[in-house]
Amino acid sequence: MHTDVQRYYGSIINKTEDLQTDVCTTAGAPAAHLRIALSAVHPEVRERYYGCGTVFPHELRGRRVLDLGCGTGRDCFVLAQLVGANGHVAGVDMTEEQLAVGERYLPWHMERFGYAAPNVEFHKGYIERLDELNFAAGSFDVIVSNCVINLALDKAAVLNAAQRLLANGGELYFSDIYADRRVPRALASDPVLYGECLGGALYWHDFLTLGKRAGFLDPRLIDDHPVGLRNDAIAARVAPIQFYSATYRLFKLAELEPACEDYGQAVAYLGTIPETPAVFQLDRHHRFERGKLIPVCGNTWRMLFDTRFRPHFSFHGDWDTHYGIFAGCGTDLPFATSSSTSAPASCC
Ligand SMILES: C[S@@+](CC[C@H](N)C(=O)[O-])C[C@H]1O[C@@H](n2cnc3c(N)ncnc32)[C@H](O)[C@@H]1O
Repeated sequence: MHTDVQRYYGSIINKTEDLQTDVCTTAGAPAAHLRIALSAVHPEVRERYYGCGTVFPHELRGRRVLDLGCGTGRDCFVLAQLVGANGHVAGVDMTEEQLAVGERYLPWHMERFGYAAPNVEFHKGYIERLDELNFAAGSFDVIVSNCVINLALDKAAVLNAAQRLLANGGELYFSDIYADRRVPRALASDPVLYGECLGGALYWHDFLTLGKRAGFLDPRLIDDHPVGLRNDAIAARVAPIQFYSATYRLFKLAELEPACEDYGQAVAYLGTIPETPAVFQLDRHHRFERGKLIPVCGNTWRMLFDTRFRPHFSFHGDWDTHYGIFAGCGTDLPFATSSSTSAPASCC
């Protein structure tokens, strides 16, 4: 399957329009600061973008970022601008032809960004075998990935490696394709369905289980939407399976609890992240308006207090008294039964 996928992205498709479905395309308009960063990416790199979401969390300046399955490097070159000259971005991909485009335009981007030394490097490798690349444990603040983990043959290995490579308080922030049930073997082994990010899509509940087993105890869904299949033959083959594009953030925090517990704590956003002064969105259920005190569970507190977001919040309360489970925790299902626009039903 690796060889089929390499052939698919290396020679069968050459630009976004060559894809058979809309699975590997990103819905929605990017935020203003991202539009500016995207416009500074070389058109040939942008033309070969096959991501399904937006993998640019806030507060990246000076950080070390790893992009799993970077393709031709569109996201790497956006991240290069967000981390700045003192930050660093490493992109990993297994397909020579994809990496060659990124490598070719690396000097062009560094000159355009005005950086004296390159802050991006590309590595050829398999995301299931990241240990072969000799990255040190804890050497990344943020790991991103855009429409790739579904293509990995051993998804648990990818999540375990992400857990090892992240620094404490870091996060895996990634967009991918999920199914509302386990994809039957006959579909999963079809090279086109696999290459189009359908065959290898994880059943969302299996993903949550794998994430928790890898040590990401409280995966947070940021947004999700059903994907359009466009190609009638493919749509008929996979029916009635529903596929979703979703972005999750998984913090590496040793003290997270399996459920959201209530310690009577609250936080207020200070409005100090320049590109989002009015509201900070942690995940689909946590929208912090500047200055407004919001009750949070212990896990959400840790995601703000024990991470790079700490300077941007005021924190009220402590861990002295436990008031039981945080109201509504665990009652919400992602995807089919809810949407990004629905009212929050629970804390996580
Ligand atoms: C759908 S494309 C997304 C590329 C890129 N993230 C983007 O947004 O344009 C999938 C990419 O993942 C790479 N890929 C797939 N499986 C991989 C694996 N197991 N290890 C490394 N790269 C992989 C492919 O070579 C391809 O470049």
